[in-house]
Amino acid sequence: MTQDELKAEVGRAALQYVVAGEIVGVGTGSTVNKFIDALASIKDQIPGAVSSSVASTERLRALGIPVLDANEVERLAVYIDGADEIDHQGFMVKGGGAALTREKIVAALADRFICIADASKQVQTLGAFPLPVEVIPMAAAQIARRFAAKGGHATVRLKDGQPLVTDNGQHILDVTGLAIADPAAFESEVNQWPGVITVGVFAHQKAAVCLLGTEQGVETLEF
Ligand code: A5P
Repeated sequence: MTQDELKAEVGRAALQYVVAGEIVGVGTGSTVNKFIDALASIKDQIPGAVSSSVASTERLRALGIPVLDANEVERLAVYIDGADEIDHQGFMVKGGGAALTREKIVAALADRFICIADASKQVQTLGAFPLPVEVIPMAAAQIARRFAAKGGHATVRLKDGQPLVTDNGQHILDVTGLAIADPAAFESEVNQWPGVITVGVFAHQKAAVCLLGTEQGVETLEF
């Protein structure tokens, strides 16, 4: 099976976690796009979605699924999103699609984070995937120096030769060379650095369930 087919399978499998009559939290990325396509088939059962990016909002609306502002919602039963890495405790690295800040905000509204991923995303230790960190541009160099002191190497993510600008008008640092042994402590520490908006370690908003697409079918991991 191709990676694309595995993503489509887990996207469809995630429908079982959508609660009829409840607003669903929707992440960002190529796996979530498959979920959004599947969600369209049961759109009459839900009042709508809260979205974590402009891209997901556009896709949801194009399929006739209403999108609500996060401020209109007090709680969500589930938030469904992909990951760049997920470990055996449900801790994740996210932000490969630059939507990590809104992803963390919507995830924080939800009772349960349902991660959908193909098996290539499962790791022993987080950090092989370059860690995305959304930063205020004027702090980028000092934050990069702090990562260097931890053995990491941070570079500003570019798009068409210019710093990529996020949906929030900020920049992304991608940090290589890290092995994140204690994700919760790492997330808390980096969150304190001035100029950091969001670090792409999701330990405080970890997955409750991961639907992992494998050659043998969809595996359900509960954490
Ligand atoms: C978006 O910012 C990310 O957090 C995505 O959830 C993550 O990069 C997974 O994306 P894919 O499903 O495209 O691999």
